[in-house]
Amino acid sequence: TLPTVGYVATALESTQNYVTNSPGRAILFAVVYSPLIAIVLNVLRQLILPRDPSLPPEVFHIIPIFGSAMSYGNDPLGFFAQCKEKYGNVFTFVLLGRKVTVALGPKGNNFVLGGKSMAFSAEDAYKHLTTPVFGKDVVYDVPNELFMEQKKFVKVGLSVENFRAYVGMIEDEVDHFMKTDAAFLIFQMNDINDWGRFDVTDIMAQITILTASRTLQGSEVRQGLDKTFSELFNDLDGGFTPLNFLFPNLPLESYRKRDVAHRKMSEFYVDIIRKRRESGIDAQDMISALISQKYRSGRPLPDHEIAHILIALLMAGQHTSSATGSWALLHLAENLKVQEAFYQEQVKNFGNPDGTFRSMTYEELRELPIMDSIVRETLRLHPPIHSIMRYVRSDVPVPPTLGAPSKDGAYVIPRGYYVLASPSVSQVDPEVWHNPTTWDPTRWSDPEGVAAKAFKSYADENGETIDFGFGAVSKGTDSPYQPFGAGRHRCIGEQFAYLQLGTVLATMLRQVEIRLDQPMPEHNYHTMITMPKKPRNICYRRRALD
Ligand code: HEM
Repeated sequence: TLPTVGYVATALESTQNYVTNSPGRAILFAVVYSPLIAIVLNVLRQLILPRDPSLPPEVFHIIPIFGSAMSYGNDPLGFFAQCKEKYGNVFTFVLLGRKVTVALGPKGNNFVLGGKSMAFSAEDAYKHLTTPVFGKDVVYDVPNELFMEQKKFVKVGLSVENFRAYVGMIEDEVDHFMKTDAAFLIFQMNDINDWGRFDVTDIMAQITILTASRTLQGSEVRQGLDKTFSELFNDLDGGFTPLNFLFPNLPLESYRKRDVAHRKMSEFYVDIIRKRRESGIDAQDMISALISQKYRSGRPLPDHEIAHILIALLMAGQHTSSATGSWALLHLAENLKVQEAFYQEQVKNFGNPDGTFRSMTYEELRELPIMDSIVRETLRLHPPIHSIMRYVRSDVPVPPTLGAPSKDGAYVIPRGYYVLASPSVSQVDPEVWHNPTTWDPTRWSDPEGVAAKAFKSYADENGETIDFGFGAVSKGTDSPYQPFGAGRHRCIGEQFAYLQLGTVLATMLRQVEIRLDQPMPEHNYHTMITMPKKPRNICYRRRALD
C-alpha cells in the first residue's frame, strides 16, 4: 500500500500546482471536479457512514439530488419490485432533491391513504402542480376541510338522476363520432369485409372529452369543443406533466401556454356560469349542481370557484378514463372469447330481432356482469395512477407490521419527506392474485375468489364506512384492489367512470368487431397517467346485422 499512498500524494501535489498556477484553471477544476467529488462523497456516505436506524433504508444511488429519478421515471413498478426485494416494504428513495418513502402492499396503502391529513398532506404534495392548471381557491389550493366540502358539492352533480340522463347522451356521442370521424372511414363505407385501423388512445381521448362535456360539463362546453375549447384544453394539459410536478415554474413555452390557457378557460366557464345564473336555466349537469350549493358557513360558491372546480373535474376524468378505455379495447381486441361474451351480453339484454339494439337504462347498465368485470379487470392491471403521494407535515412512526426493525423501535418518517403508496403493486401481487399479470375478467365472477373479496373490502359491502366530509365512503384503505384510491382523497368519479366506459365500449362493440395485429403495448410511464406506448393500433370491421 505504501507505493499507492506515494502515487496519490504526488498526484494531489501536481494537481494543486496545476490549479494554483492560474485562476482560470481553478474555475475549470471546480466545474469539472466538484460534481465528481459530490458523487464520490454521496457514494461513500451511503457505503461507509453508519445508517440512522430510525430512518427507513435509503435506496442506493450514485448521483446526489438526482437520486433514483431515472429508474423510477422509466419503470416505477419495476423499480419498486427491485427495491422491495432489497429493502422490504418500506424504503426511501431520492427524487430530484425530494426524499420519498414508499410503503408497499395493502398495509402500506392503508398507512399512506388512511393517514391523518394533519400528518400526510395531499395539498402540500400536489398544489404546485395543480393550482396553475385548475386555478385558485379550489382542491389543493384550499385547506383540506374546505376541499372536502367541495367534493360534497360535486357529488350532488354526480346523482343517479343525472346518470340516468347520461347513458343516452353518451350513446349518441359515440354513434355520431363513429359516423363522422376519419378514424372510422371504413365503417362509414358500410363495407362488412374491409378492416380499418385506429390509434386507440387518440380516439379514446376524443370520445372521452366529447362524452364528459356532453354530460357533466354541460352543453355550452360541448359546443365549445367544436371551436376553441379543444386548443385551450391541449395547452392546459401540456402543463400537467411529470416535469411540472418536479419543477413548478420553468421559463418554457409550455408553462407560458399553460398560464394563458388557464386564464382563458377560466373566463370561458365564468361567462357560461353568469349566463346560467341570469337565465335561471337548470340543466342536469355539474354547473347547475354547483350553482345551487353553499358552504357550511352559508357562503355560496362564487363564479371563479365553480369554474375552477369544473376545470379540475375535466382534468381528473380525462386521461384516467381514456387510458382505461384504451386498455380495455386493446385487451378485448386481443381476447376474442371475452369480446364475444361481451357482445352476446349486449345481444341478450338489448338486441332487437332485426339485429339492431335498443338503448340501455342506467339501472340495466349496472347489472351487466361481463361489462363490469372487463372494466374492473382492466383497472386492476392498468390503474391509471401508479403513485399516490403525500407530503409529511410532522414526524410519523411507521407501524411495526409494515416492516420496521423491532429491536430499534419503529422507523420514523421525518417531516419534510414525501410518502408514496402504489396500489398498482398490490393489484398484481402474486401472493394475493392468481396469475396476477394475466388479463382475465372471469376472476371477478367467482363469489368466493380473491377478486370478489378484495372488491368487497373496497366497496361498501362489509358496511365499514367513514365520512370525511363528502358523504360516507367505504374505508377500503387496506384492500389489495384500489384503482380509485382510498380514504379522504378517494375518487368521487368512480360511478361516472363506470357509466362512461361501459356505455362507450358497448356502443362501439355493438357496431364493430375488433382485433389486435400487434403485441400488447407496454406501459408508458412518462406521462402523469399511465398510457399504452405507441404503436397501439386496433383493427376494426363493421358487424353484419344478424
Ligand atoms: C381522486 C382514479 C375518474 C374526480 C382519485 C384518486 C385516484 C383516482 C387513484 C386518488 C388520488 C389521491 O389519493 O391522491 C381515477 C380513475 C378514474 C377516475 C382510475 C377513471 C377510470 C375520475 C372522474 C372524475 C374524478 C371521471 C370526475 C368526474 C376525482 C376527484 C378526486 C379523485 C375529485 C379527489 C381528489 C382528492 O380528494 O384529493 N381518482 N379517477 N376521477 N378523482 Fe378520480
